[in-house]
Amino acid sequence: MGSLDGKLGVVFGVANKRSIAWAIAQAWHREGARLAFTYQGERLRENVEELVGTFGADTLLLPCDVSQDDQIAAVFEAVGAKFGRLDLLLHSVAFAPKEALEGDFLNTTRDAFRISHDISAYSLVALTRGAAPLMVNGGSVVAMTYYGSEKVIPHYNVMGVAKAALEASTRYLAYSLGPKKVRVNCISAGPVNTLAARGIAGFSEMLKHYEAHTPLKRNVLPDELGQTGVFLASDGAAAITGQVLYVDCGYQIMGM
Ligand SMILES: NC(=O)c1ccc[n+]([C@@H]2O[C@H](COP(=O)([O-])OP(=O)(O)OC[C@H]3O[C@@H](n4cnc5c(N)ncnc54)[C@H](O)[C@@H]3O)[C@@H](O)[C@H]2O)c1
Repeated sequence: MGSLDGKLGVVFGVANKRSIAWAIAQAWHREGARLAFTYQGERLRENVEELVGTFGADTLLLPCDVSQDDQIAAVFEAVGAKFGRLDLLLHSVAFAPKEALEGDFLNTTRDAFRISHDISAYSLVALTRGAAPLMVNGGSVVAMTYYGSEKVIPHYNVMGVAKAALEASTRYLAYSLGPKKVRVNCISAGPVNTLAARGIAGFSEMLKHYEAHTPLKRNVLPDELGQTGVFLASDGAAAITGQVLYVDCGYQIMGM
């Protein structure tokens, strides 16, 4: 018997097989959850279709650009029609214009700031609001964040500021939805080689730096993020909400 048997979930953020969302979705599926998926746009559809097809031909797959309210509404309407209710939501979505992840933070444009916050932080509020009416038995919302929210990581720039907004939103959403038994938490992952990560200048040095400096002397594996995702979705985490859980081989505790 799986720890998520009978749970119904929706996953935002699968782009390809390296996506953290895919690692967590696989772990949720393995533990018995039934899942629906979204993809950002036509460019990614075929790839995501192929992956989620492995969960069964009738797996619900819908387009959703999280900057578009009408697309978000359509997703929750379709999920409600198919599942009747919802228990789990995974937010594994982030974006900042490439030039904002290269140069000096001082030069962050108004547009780069707005876009990165809209897609990487506000979207958690919008998606959680869409899911909440379907979470009639309570639920678990999990979002992906990174340590650049609290300490300066060179090149992470405006994305660090957006992650700080995401983590603060997690706390306010946890307070808002606590009475409905809906929990909202973040996983703060150490660096993982994905499409989004490769957009950050100097990303491969980051992997090497973690290997040398984390207490565990290695980088986190996608499957380990999957297992933390299972824990946060399960009844084992029934009293945990509004938290940022570090799954980074211990990097966050180090001062030097
Ligand atoms: N890879 C890492 O090192 C790392 C570390 C900590 C946290 N994270 C976070 O994990 C999450 C997933 O990233 P990933 O590393 O798996 O990379 P990824 O590129 O596989 O996933 C990012 C996802 O965001 C989606 N996205 C971007 N703009 C969107 C939009 N407008 N509408 C809908 N979807 C949109 C992309 O389609 C993609 O599926 C992100 O929040 C990222 O910040 C990643």
